[in-house]
Amino acid sequence: MNSHIDIIERAEKFVKEQLQNDPSGHDWWHIHRVRVMALRMAKKEGGNEFICELASLLHDVADEKLNLSKEAGMNKVMDWLNEYVTDIEIREQVLLIISTMSYNGGHNPPMNTIEGQIVQDADRLDALGAIGIARTFAYGGSKGRLMHIPESTPRGVMSQEEYRSSEGTAIHHFYEKLFKLKDLMNTEYGKLIARQRHEYMKEYVEQFYAEWDAKDDAWNGEQQ
Ligand code: ADP
Ligand code: NI
Repeated sequence: MNSHIDIIERAEKFVKEQLQNDPSGHDWWHIHRVRVMALRMAKKEGGNEFICELASLLHDVADEKLNLSKEAGMNKVMDWLNEYVTDIEIREQVLLIISTMSYNGGHNPPMNTIEGQIVQDADRLDALGAIGIARTFAYGGSKGRLMHIPESTPRGVMSQEEYRSSEGTAIHHFYEKLFKLKDLMNTEYGKLIARQRHEYMKEYVEQFYAEWDAKDDAWNGEQQ
């Protein structure tokens, strides 16, 4: 039987191979940040640290954007778990977390284990704040989209397909997803950090608009 340390090491290696050089915001450092945040949250909120760490490491391997289909992605994770993790309960918990955690335009069912809630919160937190802003523009750039088009308005309620097929600007993404996340957090610690990152993003977008219209002068945006 493989030790937990052994499994984590193997998972790291597997994930690095799978996500090498991904330009859409799923690079290794995203995985690393989610893992660190999930472990911090597991300590604060309670929750099995091994499950949180393993699910964090594997959470984007099955992403439909990186596979032919969501099923193909899940099979890849399942095969890996079957090979390296003998405890069937751990395999099932990790699979359940991974299959329900992505945002999907807000259409997935709620998480019902504390470990799932923690890993989902940690992933969502990485879409917020300074890093969330950077990832949003990096993602837009990887798709060849504009940062902002003043006359186009963000979409309201969307189906899963509509959300995925977005051709919108980076600025739209703040309204279509990022500003909604603070109300979708599961844990108290997640809510606290999300609120801080939310405020930072709101200020950022205000400054963005002010600069766009050349109104960020010493009079604090007041028109002259
Ligand atoms: P998740 O795996 O958490 O569902 P995604 O795969 O949707 O996240 O997105 C990866 C990163 O790219 C996130 O930071 C997300 O906010 C950003 N992103 C996703 N879709 C868009 C979009 N249409 N425009 C700009 N950024 C996006
Ligand atoms: Ni992720």
